[in-house]
Amino acid sequence: MTKNIGILTSGGDCPGINAALRGVGKAGFEMGMRFIGFKDGFRGLVLDNTIKIDDRLLSGIIAVGGTILGTSRDKPHRMIMKGVISDMTDEAVKVYRRHRLNALVCLGGGGTQKNALHLKKAGLNIITLPKTIDNDVPETDVSFGFDTALEIATDAIDRLHSTAMSHGRIIVVEVMGHRAGWLALGAGIAGGADVILIPEIPYNVHRISEAIRHRSKIGKNFSIIVVAEGAMSKSEACMIKKLVAAKNEARGKMKKKKASDALAEFHRQHVNHTLELTKRLERLTGLESRLSILGHLQRGGPPSAGDRILSTRLGFACAEFLNQEKYGIMVALKGDRTKAVPLELVAGKKKFVPLDHPWIHSARSVETCFGI
Ligand code: F6P
Repeated sequence: MTKNIGILTSGGDCPGINAALRGVGKAGFEMGMRFIGFKDGFRGLVLDNTIKIDDRLLSGIIAVGGTILGTSRDKPHRMIMKGVISDMTDEAVKVYRRHRLNALVCLGGGGTQKNALHLKKAGLNIITLPKTIDNDVPETDVSFGFDTALEIATDAIDRLHSTAMSHGRIIVVEVMGHRAGWLALGAGIAGGADVILIPEIPYNVHRISEAIRHRSKIGKNFSIIVVAEGAMSKSEACMIKKLVAAKNEARGKMKKKKASDALAEFHRQHVNHTLELTKRLERLTGLESRLSILGHLQRGGPPSAGDRILSTRLGFACAEFLNQEKYGIMVALKGDRTKAVPLELVAGKKKFVPLDHPWIHSARSVETCFGI
């Protein structure tokens, strides 16, 4: 019997999404499936805003960045409808049933995995694919988008190296990654950064300035500091620990909201931390300093060859799981194999850089400073 499959992309976009859509769709067509796309993430599902997916639509998109379906960070159970936060789960279920779908495929990062589990609990057959430049989705070695972002950030660091050297400056490079340090660590190693700061290793600014001054003493009058957007100093890490503890201990709706608002406010305020750090390093070292925030450049443009292959593999594996009716799972890469991981093991969890990760050992072995 022909299977009807819904598909959507949700959360921040990244290179490799279209390649994955193509992989799922083309392999699925071969297995006799029909696909319907929902536009702009879960909002499209709730509003029944669809796009027909045929072979023509999937042609020529393997090298195209972004997502042909559009995306949003909307959650089905907390969606802003006419200015009001509303639980639209029942509506999402109705649309799924209206289209007589056998399953829904969701391509996304951490938030998407949570939404997918929520819809699974509401009775839908779900399969997800791990998509994010942050590489923080657990239970998979890597997510698509990461390899391309790593290339972009490394290329930027290479370019910043020559200008830092010419002017004898410190250049601080802020790299994305949300609360995880994968991208900063990888790009920092590949770009030969002198200092790498990641959220998993809270830093002491005086250690960084010592490392920079030591470089000056041995005739290297410039430094490249790669900073993850979520990196923090030791005192900020203590503050976050306290705020998280207060949130976990809070009892009652009002107290919980207050504690969680305080934590959110801290993260909002933290957005400018790399500018503060740059100014501070200038004061501490006496070297002219500049900040370069790579931002969304890291998410744009065509996927790398590595991401195209990964997306195609995960897409094909997804079609096979759809065919086998293996639902409630995320398609992961483990070693050289693709694997089905129960959504319960993924949703609400993050993959941080382990402190004993080989990348950290390698960086230390070439005298990279982590600010400790
Ligand atoms: O999760 C991907 C990501 O690019 C993070 O690295 C970054 O913190 C965030 O999205 C930026 O989100 P937005 O595109 O909504 O500004």
